[in-house]
Amino acid sequence: MRRYLRVVVLCLACGFCSLLYAFSQLAVSLEEGAGGGGGKPQAAAASWLAGGGRGAGRGAGSAGPAAHPGPSDRYSLKMQPVERVHLAVVACGERLEETLTMLKSALIFSIKPLQFHIFAEDQLHDSFKGILNRWSFLQTFNYSLYPITFPSENAAEWKKLFKPCASQRLFLPLILKEVDSLLYVDTDILFLRPVDDIWSLLKKFNSTQIAAMAPEHEEPRIGWYNRFARHPYYGKTGVNSGVMLMNMTRMRRKYFKNDMTSVRLRWGDILMPLLKKYKLNITWGDQDLLNIIFFHNPESLFVFPCQWNYRPDHCIYGSNCQEAEEEGIFILHGNRGVYHDDKQPAFRAIYEALRNCSFEDDNIHSLLKPLELELQKTVHTYCGKIYKIFIKQLTKSIQDRFDRPPKER
Ligand SMILES: *[C@@H]1O[C@H](CO)[C@@H](O)[C@H](O)[C@H]1NC(C)=O
Ligand SMILES: *[C@@H]1O[C@H](CO)[C@@H](O)[C@H](O)[C@H]1NC(C)=O
Ligand SMILES: *[C@@H]1O[C@H](CO)[C@@H](O)[C@H](O)[C@H]1NC(C)=O
Ligand SMILES: *[C@@H]1O[C@H](CO)[C@@H](O)[C@H](O)[C@H]1NC(C)=O
Ligand SMILES: *[C@@H]1O[C@H](CO)[C@@H](O)[C@H](O)[C@H]1NC(C)=O
Repeated sequence: MRRYLRVVVLCLACGFCSLLYAFSQLAVSLEEGAGGGGGKPQAAAASWLAGGGRGAGRGAGSAGPAAHPGPSDRYSLKMQPVERVHLAVVACGERLEETLTMLKSALIFSIKPLQFHIFAEDQLHDSFKGILNRWSFLQTFNYSLYPITFPSENAAEWKKLFKPCASQRLFLPLILKEVDSLLYVDTDILFLRPVDDIWSLLKKFNSTQIAAMAPEHEEPRIGWYNRFARHPYYGKTGVNSGVMLMNMTRMRRKYFKNDMTSVRLRWGDILMPLLKKYKLNITWGDQDLLNIIFFHNPESLFVFPCQWNYRPDHCIYGSNCQEAEEEGIFILHGNRGVYHDDKQPAFRAIYEALRNCSFEDDNIHSLLKPLELELQKTVHTYCGKIYKIFIKQLTKSIQDRFDRPPKER
């Protein structure tokens, strides 16, 4: 009898504890959900981003890491906090407008709330704050601004050896210690599909993969690395680091094979010796260092197809990104400055259309007609030949995002 009683008491105690735990979890997820920027995917037809139904009065777009969402938030009973997509960019020099256009394209199409990590030279900070705070009514993002920094141990050396902005991205896993995963993009990226889509590739990583990039070239005959590089590089033609998806938890944990010592090195310890060894032989800065690292650790890289990092190279020598023609262009990368000169007017037209459009416009569809007219004028140019693919992609993305009821997607 006595023993029986003891068992009953024990059971009651356990039950009580799990209840306590459940409540504490609920409290935590409520708190996180409240700061989470809503993340309601659907918007009514043509109502543009902020149009109705996005909840009210939440603290998004707060200016700096210290800011917290207000307590007066909404009380939807959300058990799961909304997962945020973390997007990082490094902006120096004249890149303000380009960076903002990239961020805008991310905001237009994305479904989950976004957390921007913007590394910028000090003189750009005020301008970023000004514009991003104006966009905060969207309530679909928040952001942090950081100076260009290096881990303190050998900051001076990095600054001396390399252009400061060029190597910043290598240090993101060490600087953003609290962030699990991150999408890094160059400033000259435009999203033509929700950022959610590339983010979902993280879940496709096998157990050894830590990062994802696209090949530098599809066609070895015109590849750069295989013809000119004086250092090891990944795969047949190397990889392009303009769009780089990282599971930084894994990057921080991994010990990397290398050709400098017989022991494997951590991310934080491999960069400096690598730079010292190869600094006279590298041409494209940190992208070359990444190629060397993944040459030695190929099992760690997930390679995504060219449509996730579509560059002028894919159309100026004839069309050599097959997937883009079949499935669409998901992320546009206007490298070589093509958004700002007349060498690839098709790239420039798309950039300008997105730069010109405003969240205050009534109708996102109004982007399409003038852009199509503009692109038709480029049909005699190399990349203009495929302008219909650009229009098809944008039309589809806009329909998916704004026209269809959510259940169809
Ligand atoms: C952005 O929102 C996330 C999730 O609510 C929060 O953890 C983070 O601190 C916020 N960042 C800023 C800069 O407000
Ligand atoms: C990144 O890797 C860690 C460790 O394997 C894992 O726990 C985490 O879920 C991964 N993140 C994503 C977004 O897949
Ligand atoms: C740098 O390039 C030169 C010339 O191709 C080559 O001889 C040398 O081995 C290279 N250095 C390294 C560290 O690979
Ligand atoms: C993960 O994929 C990479 C690239 O396909 C491959 O090299 C590696 O062996 C795979 N890892 C595992 C554990 O299957
Ligand atoms: C964008 O605006 C500029 C001037 O503000 C104009 O010259 C250009 O034609 C516009 N481009 C598009 C594609 O709307």
